[in-house]
Amino acid sequence: MTGNYAEVYKSWREDSPGFWMEQAAAIDWFIKPETAFDPDLGAYGRWYPDGVTNTCYNCLDRHVAAGRGDQAALIYDSPLTGAKRRISYSAMLAEVEAFAGALSDRGIGKGDRVIIYMPMVPEAIVAMLACARLGAVHSVVFGGFAAHELATRIDDSQAKLIVTASCGIEPGRIVAYKPLLDAAIEQARHKPDSTIVLQRDNHRCELIEGRDFDYATLIAANAGRKTECAQVLSTDPLYVLYTSGTTGKPKGVVRDNGGHMAALYWSMHAIYGVKPGEVFWAASDIGWVVGHSYIVYAPLLHGNTTIVFEGKPVGTPDAGTFWRVIAEHKVAVLFTAPTAFRAIRKDDPQGSRVKSYDMSGFRALFLAGERADPDTIQWAERILDVPVIDHWWQTETGWTIAGNPMGLGLLPVKYGSPAVPMPGYDVRVIDDEGHPVATGSLGNVVLQLPLPPGCLSTLWNAESRFHEAYLAEFPGYYKTADAGYVDDDGYLFIMARTDDIINVAGHRLSTGGMEEAVSGHPDVVECAVIGIADTMKGQIPVGFIVISSGPDRSEAEVEKEVIQRVRDQIGPVAAFKTVMVVKRLPKTRSGKILRATMQKIADGEDWTMPATIDDPAVLDEISDLLTKRGIGKKRD
Ligand code: COA
Ligand code: AMP
Repeated sequence: MTGNYAEVYKSWREDSPGFWMEQAAAIDWFIKPETAFDPDLGAYGRWYPDGVTNTCYNCLDRHVAAGRGDQAALIYDSPLTGAKRRISYSAMLAEVEAFAGALSDRGIGKGDRVIIYMPMVPEAIVAMLACARLGAVHSVVFGGFAAHELATRIDDSQAKLIVTASCGIEPGRIVAYKPLLDAAIEQARHKPDSTIVLQRDNHRCELIEGRDFDYATLIAANAGRKTECAQVLSTDPLYVLYTSGTTGKPKGVVRDNGGHMAALYWSMHAIYGVKPGEVFWAASDIGWVVGHSYIVYAPLLHGNTTIVFEGKPVGTPDAGTFWRVIAEHKVAVLFTAPTAFRAIRKDDPQGSRVKSYDMSGFRALFLAGERADPDTIQWAERILDVPVIDHWWQTETGWTIAGNPMGLGLLPVKYGSPAVPMPGYDVRVIDDEGHPVATGSLGNVVLQLPLPPGCLSTLWNAESRFHEAYLAEFPGYYKTADAGYVDDDGYLFIMARTDDIINVAGHRLSTGGMEEAVSGHPDVVECAVIGIADTMKGQIPVGFIVISSGPDRSEAEVEKEVIQRVRDQIGPVAAFKTVMVVKRLPKTRSGKILRATMQKIADGEDWTMPATIDDPAVLDEISDLLTKRGIGKKRD
């Protein structure tokens, strides 16, 4: 594919099936698709419906066959343990074949679900690819989620097996996974048949005879085993990734095989501008979509070397750790969330640590996962002296909706905008009645159907929820649940979510889910959780609770218990650390909690008393309470 952005986007517009057939040629198929898209299948059509392929084959076998066997597929760099390992494509293939053999001995085959609850270690990626090899459907659960969240996912996916590790490592503490896993299995209605546990030296755990199996023993027993790649339909599911929805029940985003590969492969050269053989680093976690797409699948599909980094941007050991990894492993492109850069800047405001490293091979920084504030982008540009590129996408799409494609020649940067739609995406901004809004006006950002290859095909076991959540409100469009506008040059600006999702340090969380956890406390009569602006994490949750009269504990004790409850039920990653007891919650006369106004007060924005408010004194009380705690602004 050659040409600049405008030409390429136009070529897609003029012939979408032709464009995507051309991208499919970059993938190896057992049976090549003859049909690019069938509009009559699934909720909005399906890509390459007659193609037969295997994602693991495309990530490993074909590169080894093509002579890339000695190249590093993965570089594991763990400042948290001091470990560093380079794993070649051949070695990765051997371990994946061995592990896939072990999985199939445990009864795993095409279509079976396997949960992977692991820290950032290469074995997690082995497990993902082994599932792909067998045509099994993996569901990776982020290590920062608590047992209850894991249990929800076990029940929804009906997983037959769970792959886990004895522990994760966070700065200053070991996170023992086994007690979380055991509690989750105990809580879940569905019981997996077995688990496979990677024992880590930092903390080993007891295995339950007959249920838990040791990862290393299985790999040793299956060394040298050849495990065939299952032939799967392009439209068969590769994975389910649960993401926050508007209730406590997460949505299982289903990704297929063929469309996913074609889209991700294209993105590597066209959007990120990398060539096979180069080192690509997505500093995220395999528990998130960024990790699925850009730590695992896209770099391996494209023959790149991917970095598996077990550490943080700061404190492991310092704010220079990203530059050390870039220099040491010759990283060409880094992708992370803006919050990581805000954290680095806080520790090293001048960015002086960069100067200690040879960054000559580093070409670009990509940011996504939350709004990239212009200040952070400009700071990163100054200290790195490379293009800093914002791009916007979601768990549901799996790859960029709007961005500035480095491989097609960068367009001028407009700070605050992730730039322009990628081929495959017809982005529109409409009002609540579904009418287009004027250029520059804020509205609902929607995507005209069909969605391109790589996007979710449905929600796991929840076809009608998929329809209701994404397709029903604006017929003919996919609702992104983001609000934004397009300017005169066609640049998109994403301003806010239109639902209760908040973004905490690039992690997507539902305030509705937190409210469910909070309201389960026996003394809580009513509650509201809102996301408020935070200079480091972008947003943090704050809870307001009304408690029953006369609990035998102080308000402070109840607040502490509520905080602990969210940590235990959702996980530390929710960063739920502020909750306050209020006498009443502000409501409209029809009983709707005025969350948006509370958020404005907390964010220090100008606010006016809503005309529909039931009792104005309640909002003034909340405003007083927040200002006493140093949060927010009083009414003008
Ligand atoms: N397993 C267990 N616990 C985890 C975890 C994991 N995989 N990841 C995070 N946590 C815990 C942390 O230890 C912390 O616990 P604490 O409350 O006891 O301190 C809590 O969850 C919040 O973690 P985190 O969001 O990482 O915040 P932080 O204050 O520890 O670090 C940043 C802040 C900015 C350094 C960090 O959020 C970061 O590196 N962000 C990068 C963004 C990113 O990867 N986004 C993913 C999408 S691209
Ligand atoms: P996730 O599914 O975790 O990737 O979160 C997706 C949501 O994060 C989007 O719907 C946006 O609200 C937000 N988001 C992601 N990337 C960006 C970006 N570049 N600019 C603004 N918001 C973003």
